[in-house]
Amino acid sequence: HRPGGRIDFENVSFGYEGSAGEPVLKNINMTCLPGETIGIIGSTGSGKSSLVSLVPRFYDTSSGSICVDGVDIRQLDPAKLRDRIAIVPQKTILFSGTIEENLRWGHEQATNDEIVHAANMAEAHSFIAACPEGYETRLGQRGVNLSGGQKQRLSIARALVRKPDILILDDCTSALDTATETKIKQSLKAFAADVTCLIIAQRITSVMDADKVVVMDDGEIVGIGTHETLMKSCRVYVEICQS
Ligand code: GTP
Repeated sequence: HRPGGRIDFENVSFGYEGSAGEPVLKNINMTCLPGETIGIIGSTGSGKSSLVSLVPRFYDTSSGSICVDGVDIRQLDPAKLRDRIAIVPQKTILFSGTIEENLRWGHEQATNDEIVHAANMAEAHSFIAACPEGYETRLGQRGVNLSGGQKQRLSIARALVRKPDILILDDCTSALDTATETKIKQSLKAFAADVTCLIIAQRITSVMDADKVVVMDDGEIVGIGTHETLMKSCRVYVEICQS
């Protein structure tokens, strides 16, 4: 596995093309060290998804720069950059095909062992094994119906199959109970310790054990630190905790 996955945001501002008014992200500065888990929290519309979408260059910054392992991402081959990053989107996208096809999607060369390993880390293996045809079970109209939480776990497993250096979870554990979410995070720590994880969440419990938490408010970072530090120093964080 390639070591790395450091991300530096330097004075990043960003606005969507064609939308007038204030930029969506203003003067963002932060560093994510290789293997760190960074929680990102903030009210709806505060810019969390926009922030992470800049890393694989779904959009480019309006000003400032983002570096991965010290290199400005605009100087990297986009395909190679995206090959190192896996994003689990807010809305799970599964297609009608088998569970295995869905897990392999975008990384067809994965071995069966790698698929099962990823499913185990995402707490998905047991329910997959309990499906009528295991990994060959079809999803969709003519297949099994999975719960929202099961779909989220497949979506996480699919990202892990790609063995990314940078893993971005965009509010994709909302349908999971806290115990399952904790188990997934523990597996990630144990088996993917060198993967830099950015975890966007609504619940404080989803991010409070992260190496550091980034608090967003209206397009700006208003606090970066551990749960304990932020509880003492960041009003917005305390308000989210109390809500
Ligand atoms: P939640 O996902 O609701 O928790 O919000 P968020 O914190 O992830 O904020 P997000 O980055 O999605 O949005 C920040 C701002 O950008 C909001 O004002 C959105 O309306 C706006 N925005 C998000 N996506 C787009 C887009 O594709 N086009 C345009 N023009 N604006 C967008």
